[in-house]
Amino acid sequence: MAKRVLVLNGPNLNLLGTREQDIYGTQTLKDVEALCKQAGIELGLSIDCRQSNHEGVLVTWIQDGCKTADAILINPAAYSHTSVAIHDALKAVRLPVAEVHMSNIHQREAFRHHSYVSAVAFGVICGFGVAGYRMALIALAEKLN
Ligand code: DQA
Repeated sequence: MAKRVLVLNGPNLNLLGTREQDIYGTQTLKDVEALCKQAGIELGLSIDCRQSNHEGVLVTWIQDGCKTADAILINPAAYSHTSVAIHDALKAVRLPVAEVHMSNIHQREAFRHHSYVSAVAFGVICGFGVAGYRMALIALAEKLN
């Protein structure tokens, strides 16, 4: 059976394509999700993509991941830098986690340099734009096999 990867995108990522195009490019969330699904087909992974602007919703999806997923790819967006709740949820489910940021958060404002998620992720990819999602799925496929 194909391994299942839950792909979570956090707040404001529904605005991709129009939001700060100089930083995030012109591809939409739909494009990102299509890219993930295509990578899933190539890598033999089953992909479930979700996006929320709400911290609690993301926490609940992560908790449900115990039953519905074998790994989690997450771009926690702004919650990366603030959310102990998302850190705790990811730690609790004990699934392999890959953290993705499109931009190079280390090159940006100081408040983006720390992510609460990185400590509970087995790897972090940032700065490669939407291609980072594909890279993370390749890493997760290797990890799960
Ligand atoms: C982001 C980086 C975060 O700092 C920011 O809040 C985002 C997107 C990225 O993908 O580069 O919303 O996670």
